[in-house]
Amino acid sequence: MSQDLAYAARLLLDAQRIMVFTGAGISTESGIPDFRGTDGIWTKLSPEDFMIDRYVSDRTVRTRAWATRFPKMFGDAQPNGAHEAVVDLWKAGKLIGCVTQNIDGLHQAAGLPQDQIAELHGNSDGIACLRCGAPHDPAEIEQRWVDGDVDPQCDHCGGILKSTIVFFGEVLPHSEIERANHWAAQADAVIAVGSSLSVYPAAYIPLEIASRGDTFVIINNGPTDLDTVASIRLEGMAATLLPQLVGAITA
Ligand code: APR
Repeated sequence: MSQDLAYAARLLLDAQRIMVFTGAGISTESGIPDFRGTDGIWTKLSPEDFMIDRYVSDRTVRTRAWATRFPKMFGDAQPNGAHEAVVDLWKAGKLIGCVTQNIDGLHQAAGLPQDQIAELHGNSDGIACLRCGAPHDPAEIEQRWVDGDVDPQCDHCGGILKSTIVFFGEVLPHSEIERANHWAAQADAVIAVGSSLSVYPAAYIPLEIASRGDTFVIINNGPTDLDTVASIRLEGMAATLLPQLVGAITA
């Protein structure tokens, strides 16, 4: 174990209500690209295509969005050791909650119960109407897409349908933000894993915990925007470092 990891474990040893805050970097070892890393999504796609105004006004943006969603947005990606380490922390009774910016569902797939997760940027499972809010069955909409409907409309009001992923310019899901803030108020430490910590309001969550002096550990491959306020940052791969850290504080 490195000196830094041993120091991080010492800082966390007495913590009983640890928040784990995750970003796209926790899923890259499962085969899902991140956004701002070397081969990130923003090196291939334009964030413009993920602005809610563009989605509503431009049919080609909607058509492209459905083509990235169907048939399988994340292929056969499976949880990796980092997702499993978050479950281990929960099983040890030391996790207050996992706040994730990810939409890939890998925390749930690893076995973390939904009520232990706050998905700040939504998730890629659901589909709802932007006008009346009516939820739609993803399998049924996928079948319509397979049958050639590249811009499916709402069954009830004819409005535009969209995956329950938060686009730029949309408000974050109230229930998720509420849960994340509730956990942030109660946490006695936070571990941020695989995030550039560069997007707000999400990054306010770990920042709130750090700013009152509670332990803030960053695990990341490369620098983040909050390195200067971390108690310690561990440079490297999430699926290697998080299991080691969790193992050291739950043994
Ligand atoms: N282990 C550790 N760190 C990793 C790994 C890994 N296996 N793979 C990538 N990283 C690092 C990258 O170097 C990068 O610093 O994880 C970080 C991921 O940062 P971003 O790509 O910015 O992802 P994230 O922080 O989740 O982005 C936040 O921005 O575009 C929006 O809505 C999108 O939810 C996303 C938000």
